[in-house]
Amino acid sequence: MSRALTRRELLAATAALVPARHWRPHPLPVGVGDRMAWWREARFGMFLHWGLYSILAGTWRDDERWAEWIRNNAEIPVEEYDRLVERWDPVAFDPERWADLAWRAGMRYIVLTTKHHDGFCLWPSRVGTFDVEATPGRRDILRDVAAAFRSRGLRVGWYHSIMDWHHPDYLPRRPWEAATRPVAGADYARYVAYLHEQVEEILTGYAPIDILWFDGQWESTWTHSHALALQAHIRRLAPDCLVNDRINGSGRPDGVSLGDFGTPENVIPDTGTPGKDWESCVTMNDNWGYKRQDGNWKTPRRLVEMLVETVSKGGNLLLNVGPMGDGAFPPEAIARLEALAPWMAVHGDLLRGSSASRFADTARFRSTTQGEVANLFVHDWRPGPLFLEGLAPMPLEAAVVGADGSRRRLEVQAWDGGVAVILPDVGEPSLLPCVQLRFGGAWGVAAP
Ligand code: GLC
Repeated sequence: MSRALTRRELLAATAALVPARHWRPHPLPVGVGDRMAWWREARFGMFLHWGLYSILAGTWRDDERWAEWIRNNAEIPVEEYDRLVERWDPVAFDPERWADLAWRAGMRYIVLTTKHHDGFCLWPSRVGTFDVEATPGRRDILRDVAAAFRSRGLRVGWYHSIMDWHHPDYLPRRPWEAATRPVAGADYARYVAYLHEQVEEILTGYAPIDILWFDGQWESTWTHSHALALQAHIRRLAPDCLVNDRINGSGRPDGVSLGDFGTPENVIPDTGTPGKDWESCVTMNDNWGYKRQDGNWKTPRRLVEMLVETVSKGGNLLLNVGPMGDGAFPPEAIARLEALAPWMAVHGDLLRGSSASRFADTARFRSTTQGEVANLFVHDWRPGPLFLEGLAPMPLEAAVVGADGSRRRLEVQAWDGGVAVILPDVGEPSLLPCVQLRFGGAWGVAAP
């Protein structure tokens, strides 16, 4: 056998490109077993932040700095904020349309704010009155969202805030309202009982719920023992329901984490968290709740890159949409979901059910692993060799996945540092082009 080419020789030898041939990959391996299996398969979900604050769209008395934290940050007195219930009449709320956009963007689950920190409940709660029942529309949002998303094939999760700026028994008070909302008579234990009741309502009233996603757990009143009791309550009611790590409270013994998965916020951890499931939640612009003045939208290309980066590190991505007060998605969010749709129709199956990348070098691509298949999502596409240092053995086949899902076979060459795939000139590349390598069996990448 002749000696392997050097990097330089290979670059010189690959001016002419090889004719295309089509092939289909093997069926993908799917997760099996525990309650996490569907979640690991899904990889991509939609976060939905919607509540009374959406009506204000980020502005209070000409101050435009806020979003879902507006009641706290703009220091809106509780009686004044309460009056927003009269304006909650989401005439443009169309859960089928939401579900259709999510499904076509390749998402396979949702997490909707049932109650955010402001305490307003999107369902008619038996144990409170600050809810949709008090509004003109009186529509049970949870019922309609669960039905629409489920019928489209998506799993349904509920976000629920432990912190509550409205309930009289919740403590502590906001520092700025100490004078107007005295703590005398407030009983945190009674608040915890209310929280348990509400969790039971949203779990059993719309069963089966797939995720409970807690937040607002950081105030010192919420303790590790509270968290253990709440988790036991959930496990009794719905043993298969996933719970996120933010259920945990203060005073936990060192290193004790609760919940089924971690929830890094607006960040994709450098190396993922090996051995622990995780899901990065990210905003499409700079805010969770709808904010009219926030024009800092990520491009579709950036969103796809973030999704691929997350999945390449073994995590899930929960991408947020903040619907407007009337229930319509902001046009910019719709445009992004629509832009993702054709790309995900072709590439979604290369992410779903995949595991983390085996390649350390991420200068030109990020990858996902599906058994004997490696999918390389090339963010730096240049015709010529893509050097895959340390890769062995030679793949049986390499192909570039076209925008229509077709596969065009690519030339593969050995060089003295590993394998190179010869990238053709694809003209206008897709949102993020993918090269698929198929091996006949075990394969790996030697550490540099
Ligand atoms: C934070 C914020 C909140 C948002 C959440 C999403 O905890 O308080 O507004 O809902 O993160 O991860």
